[in-house]
Amino acid sequence: MKGLLTAGGHGTRLRPITHTKNKHLIPIANRPMLTYAIGYMADAGIKEIGIIVNAGDDEIEKSFDSGKELGVKLTYIPQGAPLGLAHVVKIAEPFIGDDKFLFYLGDNILVGGVMKFVDEFEASGSNCHLVLSKVSDPERFGVPEISGDRIISVEEKPSNPKSDFAVTGIYLYDSSIFEAVNSIKPSARGELEISDAHQYLLDSGKSVSFSEITGWWKDTGKPSDLLEANRLVLDNLRGKNSAKVDNKSSVTGRIVAGKGTTIKNSKVRGPVILGENVHVENAYIGPYTSISNDCNIIGCEVEYSIIMSGSSLKNVERRIEASLMGHDVELSQSNTRPRAHRIMVGDQGRVEVA
Ligand code: DAU
Repeated sequence: MKGLLTAGGHGTRLRPITHTKNKHLIPIANRPMLTYAIGYMADAGIKEIGIIVNAGDDEIEKSFDSGKELGVKLTYIPQGAPLGLAHVVKIAEPFIGDDKFLFYLGDNILVGGVMKFVDEFEASGSNCHLVLSKVSDPERFGVPEISGDRIISVEEKPSNPKSDFAVTGIYLYDSSIFEAVNSIKPSARGELEISDAHQYLLDSGKSVSFSEITGWWKDTGKPSDLLEANRLVLDNLRGKNSAKVDNKSSVTGRIVAGKGTTIKNSKVRGPVILGENVHVENAYIGPYTSISNDCNIIGCEVEYSIIMSGSSLKNVERRIEASLMGHDVELSQSNTRPRAHRIMVGDQGRVEVA
C-alpha cells in the first residue's frame, strides 16, 4: 500500500503565520505538523509516500528531504493550483499506479495512528473506506448519510447535514477512485470535491465501507484548532527533561526540555515542552505550552500557547494565554512615557490587548 499526503493549499485561516510558513510545518509540541502523519503511515507499514505541494514551494522538501530520517521514501508531487482534493488524487495517479493507497490530509491530527483503519479496509475488501467522526458542526465537512450499516450518500459542506458525522481526512482506496476523480465536474466553488468522487463511487455501485474514530481527531483549520491539537499531543508527551533548573524554581508535571535550556527562579507546570537553548527566568510556564528553540521567557506568565523559535517575551504584566506566535517575535513591556501599546505586526496580524 502507498500513501498520499496533502501539504498544498493556502492556509488562509491561519494568516499571518501562513504568509511566511506552510501551514503543514507549524509546530505541534515542537514538531512540524506533517511529521505526525508521516509517522502514522510509517507505523502502519506504508513506506512509499507521495506529498502534494504547491508548485514552486520547496519548503516541505527542505524540511523532510528523501524521508530517510523518518524511515520512509518521499516523492514530491507539485500541484499548479489548489483545485480540490479530487484534483490532488487525479494528479497522483502516475505515482500510485495500481496500488491501493491511504489518502491523508496533512492538516488532520489524530490520536492512535492509522493502522486500525488500514486493517479494516483490507478486511472489508471494499473499494473505498471512509473514516468518520461525530462532530457538532458537520456543515464544515464532507457529511455521510447513513442507512443501517451503509453510507448511501456523501455531501460536501451541506447547509442541512444528513447526519452529525464528518468524513475525516483519512481515506483508503483501490484504483476505482481514479475513474471517479476523472469523471466528476468542479463544484460551485470551483473545486473538484472529494465528496463528489465518493458519491460517484456510490452511484456506480462500488462498495464504500466506513469506521468511526472514537478517540481524538482534529482538522486544524483555525488557530484554536492548533492550540487544541497541541494540548492533545502534550497530554501524551514522552521524553527527557534536559533543562538546568536552579533551586529557586519548581517544576511539576510532565516537562520535556532540550539541551542548553535553563530555568531560573521560575515555576513550570506541565505538560510543557521547551526546545533547545530556551531561557526561562522569573517566569511561570503553565500547562499545554510548547516553546521552540532559542526563545527567552523572562518576567512573564505563559500558558496554553505555541511559541515558535527565536521569540522573546519580556516583562509583560498580564498572562499570555491561548496565543500562537511565529518565529523571532518580540513582546515586551515598555516603561517609556507616555505609557502606550507600540505595535508592529504584519498583514492580517491579530493582537488582543487587556
Ligand atoms: O478535514 C476533513 C475535511 O477535509 C473533509 O470533511 C472534507 O470533505 C474535505 O473536503 C476537506 O475539507 P477542508 O475544507 O478541510 O479541506 P481543505 O481545503 O482545508 O484542504 C485539506 C488539506 O488538503 C490541507 O492539507 C490543504 C490540502 N489541499 C487542499 C486543496 C483544496 C491541497 O493540497 N490541495 C488542494 O487543492
